[in-house]
Amino acid sequence: MRILVTGGAGFIGSNFIKYLLENIDNEIINLDKLTYAGNLENLIDIENNSNYEFVEGDICDRKLVDKTIERKDIEGIINFAAESHVDRSIDSAIEFARTNFEGTLNLLEIARDKKIKRFLQVSTDEVYGSTLGESFRETDSLNPNNPYAASKAAADLLCHSFFKTYNFPIIITRSTNNFGPYQYPEKFLPLMITNIIEGKKIPIYGTGENVRDWIYVEDNCRAIEFIFRKGKNGQIYNIAGKNELSNLNLAKIVLSLMNESEDKIEFVADRKGHDFRYSIDDFKRRYLGSSTPSGQDYFTERLKSTIDWYKQNESWWKRIKSGEHFKEWQERNYTRRN
Ligand code: NAD
Ligand code: DAU
Repeated sequence: MRILVTGGAGFIGSNFIKYLLENIDNEIINLDKLTYAGNLENLIDIENNSNYEFVEGDICDRKLVDKTIERKDIEGIINFAAESHVDRSIDSAIEFARTNFEGTLNLLEIARDKKIKRFLQVSTDEVYGSTLGESFRETDSLNPNNPYAASKAAADLLCHSFFKTYNFPIIITRSTNNFGPYQYPEKFLPLMITNIIEGKKIPIYGTGENVRDWIYVEDNCRAIEFIFRKGKNGQIYNIAGKNELSNLNLAKIVLSLMNESEDKIEFVADRKGHDFRYSIDDFKRRYLGSSTPSGQDYFTERLKSTIDWYKQNESWWKRIKSGEHFKEWQERNYTRRN
């Protein structure tokens, strides 16, 4: 199948493209704006693959999206493109509304016009908000609590409306927190790992009691690919990792795996409106036939391999943390504008 993957130069998108090219016979066009979070180094291993092509561009750019779909005779779209970091959305939400909402709308309109056979929207467990009790199911109402989550929820509603109004073939996946190689080190796990390697403290928001559920990125990619092929139009599928941990406990596990003491933990001011616990029930996707290994041993093994990856790929994250990658990005944008 000829698939347009948007946001494929980011963390999950780049892992997804590599997974697809390694495992399934597809032709992939990666359309990515290369924001501060987009990084073509993530794709160096496959950049010359004859089944892969990169197009630099914005999902809000109607002409470019239209032309790309037409030129490559695209059959399916998987939309990863997003502003993805909650703390940044709390500082300023405008780009989140633009890319996550307007960008998705633009893709939907063009995709409908081009009679795309399948459109998968990559969403998040954050759209349900926080729960102290039962895990959320796909039929639960949306209750996003931060601007990032609100922009993702809005995009989900648009997708739903395109299915109901036009019978357009939409599927939505909502996964929990991903971890693994190539995650931008502003996110909690790679921030902890890289700070420990650098001999720095690890910042824990508030009391550290907030709970997240963690899934290894390749397991999410496998689930997305499966659901893209086998899922039913108009349906939503949660993708859980079944590894719920408080941030403090996760920090302690990472410290112990890296042979460091808990003195490295530093409690800092809490995130505004910090959701206490994300938890989803993903029976529906498992019933469809998509499964993910779980259990403490598996989680620890994946965590260890992730730590090893950051140890072995210091140049990748040091370029980001030192600001070098961002500086090049600013210079590129400046040159383009002038
Ligand atoms: P990321 O920030 O690492 O990557 C986002 C990518 O989108 C970047 O390559 C960026 O350049 C690109 N992009 C941003 N704006 C764009 C635009 N206007 N046009 C084209 N490309 C644009 O994000 P990620 O962590 O890989 O997340 C990918 C998707 O998965 C997002 O939709 C996110 O909401 C969702 N998600 C992420 C997680 C997680 O734990 N990281 C969990 C659940 C869902
Ligand atoms: O749940 C899925 C979501 O997971 C995705 O939709 C988002 O795109 C992704 O960024 C992620 O959001 P979180 O806010 O859960 O991830 P983050 O890594 O920013 O934070 C994880 C937890 O760790 C959260 O409770 C806040 C806390 N934290 C985070 C940072 C950056 C800290 O305690 N200290 C930190 O320095």
